[in-house]
Amino acid sequence: MSIPTIDWVNNSVKIINQKILPSKLEFIYCRDIKALYKAIKTLQVRGAPALGIAAALGIVLTTRHSKTKDRARFKKQLDKAIRYLSTARPTAVNLFSALKRMEAIVRENSYASVVKLKKLLFKEAMAIIKEDKLVCRKMAKFGARLIKDNDRILTICNAGALATADYGTALGVIYRAKEEGKSIKVFSCETRPLLQGARLTTWELLKENIDTTLICDNMAASLMANKKIDKIFVGADRIAANGDTANKIGTYNLAVLAKYHKIPFYVVAPASTFDLGIQSGNQIPIENRSGREITHIFGRSIAPSGIKTYNPAFDVTPHKLITAIITERGIIESPFKENIKEILVRNAI
Ligand code: MRU
Repeated sequence: MSIPTIDWVNNSVKIINQKILPSKLEFIYCRDIKALYKAIKTLQVRGAPALGIAAALGIVLTTRHSKTKDRARFKKQLDKAIRYLSTARPTAVNLFSALKRMEAIVRENSYASVVKLKKLLFKEAMAIIKEDKLVCRKMAKFGARLIKDNDRILTICNAGALATADYGTALGVIYRAKEEGKSIKVFSCETRPLLQGARLTTWELLKENIDTTLICDNMAASLMANKKIDKIFVGADRIAANGDTANKIGTYNLAVLAKYHKIPFYVVAPASTFDLGIQSGNQIPIENRSGREITHIFGRSIAPSGIKTYNPAFDVTPHKLITAIITERGIIESPFKENIKEILVRNAI
């Protein structure tokens, strides 16, 4: 598994352009914060952990462009960059937690020179990347315990290497199970409107020689009714203190269907995706995107011009529909509120 989703290369943020996959593996080099902002906004880089990394590297880009030696002026420039990046996408909390970490470096080193701060900020961004890689492997190890030989797994969107610095969250569990010698079949929901499942998840899984079947989103119920799915694994963009989970639009549909068909429904997410300041899912900010993503496919109109649209990018799955949440610190089951606190805090690195 080596997919270089996002990295710092030659004073720029090198990312795989996820808008172009699977037709072409193209790299983009963001050399300033505006280019990076655009990459986030247009989903050239996407997925909660990858967004956290992008935000941290965006701050590094800002430091590289800053010419000032004056601490106060430097801090002002960084605060402006943090505010700017915070407006790129609202739902994935990883973006905000990475920015908070960068901001804390400046706050906690109140006597450091600008030169020193630049070094410390770079070090922190590299640490965020390194931690993400480690965390993906740990989640995968815990999650793979839940997978049996010959399991048929359904997933949505892309919660794989393309959404992280390494292995992925939900897909990481599948990669690990395969490495353990288990035979797995994966069904990938296409994930309208932007088709992350059809374009990205299938691309990743086929690269890893995993038996993969693509379905349209509206085929999930029929698959479940026909007893073709054993387990569902999905990623997350933000998890509230009670376990309610925001993930790609359509995830909630799958959770409801899973309950009806008595299929275990698992969320795989790092501790950095939890927002313990939010008590329940109805407080999670949901990104609304342009209706053009629904009315057009690859630039071609598929609906009458002027039609009204509704395009939330995420939905919230109530914790009651979730069997367990797999984190790098352990597997969390109901009662979520108590166990999230217990496992996340007790096993903090
Ligand atoms: O809009 P996207 O493509 O950024 O949405 C991504 C998802 O919903 C993923 O499932 C989630 O970020 C988990 S990624 C490991």
